[in-house]
Amino acid sequence: MYRSILRQSPSPSRFALLSSRFASTSSKQPTLKERLAVLIPQEIENVKATRAEHGKKSFGPVVVDHLYGGMRGLPALIWDGSVLDADEGIRFRGKTIPECQKLLPKAPGGSEPLPEGLFWLLLTGEVPTPEQVTELSKDWAARAAIPEFVEELLDRCPPTLHPMSQFSLAVTALNHDSAFAKAYSQGISKKDYWGPVFEDSMDLIAKLPNIAGRIYSNVFGKGKLPSIDKAKDYSHNLATLLGFGDNEAFVELMRLYITIHSDHEGGNVSAHTGKLVGSALSDPFLAFGAALNGLAGPLHGLANQEVLVWLRKMQSVIGENASDEAVREYVWSTLKGGQVVPGYGHAVLRKTDPRYMAQREFALKHLPEDSLFKLVNQVYTIVPDVLLEAGKAKNPWPNVDAHSGVLLTHYGLTQMEFYTVLFGVSRAFGVAAQLIWDRALGAPLERPKSYSTASIQKMFANKN
Ligand SMILES: CC(C)(COP(=O)(O)OP(=O)(O)OC[C@H]1O[C@@H](n2cnc3c(N)ncnc32)[C@H](O)[C@@H]1OP(=O)(O)O)[C@@H](O)C(=O)NCCC(=O)NCCS
Repeated sequence: MYRSILRQSPSPSRFALLSSRFASTSSKQPTLKERLAVLIPQEIENVKATRAEHGKKSFGPVVVDHLYGGMRGLPALIWDGSVLDADEGIRFRGKTIPECQKLLPKAPGGSEPLPEGLFWLLLTGEVPTPEQVTELSKDWAARAAIPEFVEELLDRCPPTLHPMSQFSLAVTALNHDSAFAKAYSQGISKKDYWGPVFEDSMDLIAKLPNIAGRIYSNVFGKGKLPSIDKAKDYSHNLATLLGFGDNEAFVELMRLYITIHSDHEGGNVSAHTGKLVGSALSDPFLAFGAALNGLAGPLHGLANQEVLVWLRKMQSVIGENASDEAVREYVWSTLKGGQVVPGYGHAVLRKTDPRYMAQREFALKHLPEDSLFKLVNQVYTIVPDVLLEAGKAKNPWPNVDAHSGVLLTHYGLTQMEFYTVLFGVSRAFGVAAQLIWDRALGAPLERPKSYSTASIQKMFANKN
């Protein structure tokens, strides 16, 4: 049995040992890139050994329904960063969301995990020290500026262009300065790919707050953007660029929000798109631009916008403080209209999403009396029963998107069309981590086989 060293998370005692070792032997703790340089050769050997032992083993049959059914449940990808269990929900390198909230470093006075620590965890399987997280905050702040032509590109977008389209446009344009694209054109060796992909990935994540802030400011008329504060963490800077930097609760929300939206194993549309496009050796900007276009779909990331639109429409039809019966009827009218109830259901999950629960806990702590939060709670007590009775959805429970908009609205970020941009900023953490590992492990070009219906009919003619 081979066990990935990356999947082993340091126990608190091992963590203390590591920290004290760093402290006693060197005043400077390893950077993220230095840790990866140590871990990558070990993981290459680990993968080789796993393939040698298990490479020819079968997961079971592929059936025709997999081809027509969106490949639901088909084992097809490798990603160590996070794994999704249908009943339990997501684990980042083996850790649940509450464990991440407990173990990852926090900002002084804060109680939510810093996404910098989550990125470190996704990449290395290790919980970083507070000092390592601070270094990452500083590194990202130093890389945060976006090229002037990208600023101009955004400034020229009509405010009617959806923020997600603007977001993907700007991210794609960052490929102008891609270290990987440049290194590739100069003939970099395959074994060295991960270095420039790491640099691009760090640049990508670092530049997103400035891009998101500029889109928000342009589209919603918020005026001149403040600059990045190199002494502040990533989420604080993002909040500042959106105009909420003085609100400590909003900053804490951003820390939690980015952490829980970062990654959801490898097969969801945005994560898989990033991986697929990256497999053609498109650089991280091109790959993540494509991922954003997937996230912009209403069955994926846009659902957080759709939830708020749906709740507001419901209020306009049945009024505020409506009875359970009126809400139930409205849910039925949505289904009878051939529409989905946004924020409910999931392709993998079969229980309430722990990302929903983490946001609910946050709301209970910070905004228990918020009227929209109360409506979300009311809807939570009604929709699952209706979906069960309707009998189609395999999972009647709420997902992450059922809750996020309510929290943002509470603090004054009321522009629903912007919500998926925040999801996109967060999802960069998971996609970037995956791209770095894919290039480090030499992941090949993805090329599954497609079939025609005629060929399926011919293949199985006269076979039971
Ligand atoms: C997430 C989602 C796309 C998963 O799709 P899936 O894996 O195909 O889900 P299921 O296998 O349960 O779908 C079976 C049927 O139930 C329907 N269904 C699933 N969730 C539903 C919902 N929330 N409201 C109404 N119908 C739903 C599907 O549309 C499908 O109908 P069909 O047979 O007529 O095509 C789906 O649950 C959905 O559309 N949810 C609402 C959008 C949303 O919240 N997206 C964010 C996900 S994190």
